[in-house]
Amino acid sequence: MKLPFWINEERTFNGLLYARSRAKRLFLYFVLISFLCYLYYLLNSLRDLVPKPLEEDEDTSEIVDGTPAPPVSEFLLSDESERLTRKVPVTHVFVNSAYYYPISKSLGRNAIALHMIVDSKNFDSKNYSFGFVGSNGTNSEAGLAKSMAYETPECRYSPTVAIGNTIENLIKLELDSNGTKTEIPFKIARFTAPKPVIICINPQFVAEQWQTFLMHVHTANRFGGHLHVYIVSIVNGYFELMKEYERQGYLTMEMWLRMKFPSPGSQFFEPNMNSQSRNSAMTDCLLQYKEATEYIAFFDMDDILFPLLYPTYLEEFNAAWTPGASSLIYGRRSHQFVKAETLTEYNFHRLVDSLRTLEPEEERVVLKPEAHRNSWEYTGMENK
Ligand SMILES: *[C@@H]1O[C@H](CO)[C@@H](O)[C@H](O)[C@H]1NC(C)=O
Ligand SMILES: *[C@@H]1O[C@H](CO)[C@@H](O)[C@H](O)[C@H]1NC(C)=O
Ligand SMILES: *[C@@H]1O[C@H](CO)[C@@H](O)[C@H](O)[C@H]1NC(C)=O
Repeated sequence: MKLPFWINEERTFNGLLYARSRAKRLFLYFVLISFLCYLYYLLNSLRDLVPKPLEEDEDTSEIVDGTPAPPVSEFLLSDESERLTRKVPVTHVFVNSAYYYPISKSLGRNAIALHMIVDSKNFDSKNYSFGFVGSNGTNSEAGLAKSMAYETPECRYSPTVAIGNTIENLIKLELDSNGTKTEIPFKIARFTAPKPVIICINPQFVAEQWQTFLMHVHTANRFGGHLHVYIVSIVNGYFELMKEYERQGYLTMEMWLRMKFPSPGSQFFEPNMNSQSRNSAMTDCLLQYKEATEYIAFFDMDDILFPLLYPTYLEEFNAAWTPGASSLIYGRRSHQFVKAETLTEYNFHRLVDSLRTLEPEEERVVLKPEAHRNSWEYTGMENK
């Protein structure tokens, strides 16, 4: 993993901003003339045409939706050299999200999925059973959720999904650590989706490239895909624009959390800085749509996919899918385009005319969610 994000908050936002301004865009007409692959989505950026969003030392907090980043608490362990070796007296587990599946094709009846990051140095997260108690109003039942962890040696915390089965009509879920119970809010997994293809979009930080978004949302809609967009922070006008698209059914916005610890009170490694949060949203998306949709794609906002052989994503994926496959891999090329400064100037045709094809980039993945329990085997690739 070489995400530069979690060094400190200010660098986080600046790093991301610059990543954004280097952002790629996609492209349409490249796809029409190419028959080598069946799909491409493209992106790219014109660094020079993109206005410099913020200077390095400018205060970013005013354009960050929500509260500014909290100061790194004196309680946090920050000694880099000990990050991967030091044992701490208490083993921390942070639950990103939890889902309940009354029925599931692959998980059995009354399954729960705990989507967490766990302290991988303090205990063997790869082979651990998390005790939990499920209650349904009349009965309570203890259970064990088995972890499936992903080793990230550069990070203190390892992403983990733990799966277990519990009581029917679950209304309360508690993690049980040697007798100490902590209630975990959970959601019932989705059983219907607006479209058979859900495109999960990685968390948006200080998002401002609305031009790319417009291109993406219309393209996805045209080919029968629905965007599920994770949002951490976004400039206000862009947020309002996205809200309008959500009202009209083009996409779903999901406010993605950052873990915040105003006064943690014990010594621990700060999870935002010591984990890989980017993939965690994709795993959440997978778990949430697992039973609801035919295909899931893990994309960035500026990854846009154009089917070449069929008029919809669904038909294209069905045709490309072979028995026993675990995923579809799509090649990707970056493209530059001339960016409209205002919504009034925005013109799809002009944008397409200005596209310039650049170099090939890392692939992107589409999969059938029913057989998968985490995203990192796929989205992890690019960070290794
Ligand atoms: C996992 O843990 C169980 C019991 O704690 C043990 O029997 C088993 O061998 C372990 N498996 C692996 C792969 O380490
Ligand atoms: C709670 O679970 C028990 C055991 O599965 C079941 O017999 C009971 O009917 C459930 N209660 C409710 C209110 O669903
Ligand atoms: C669990 O609780 C028991 C009894 O309170 C205690 O003896 C034991 O050390 C605890 N185990 C852990 C791992 O904290």
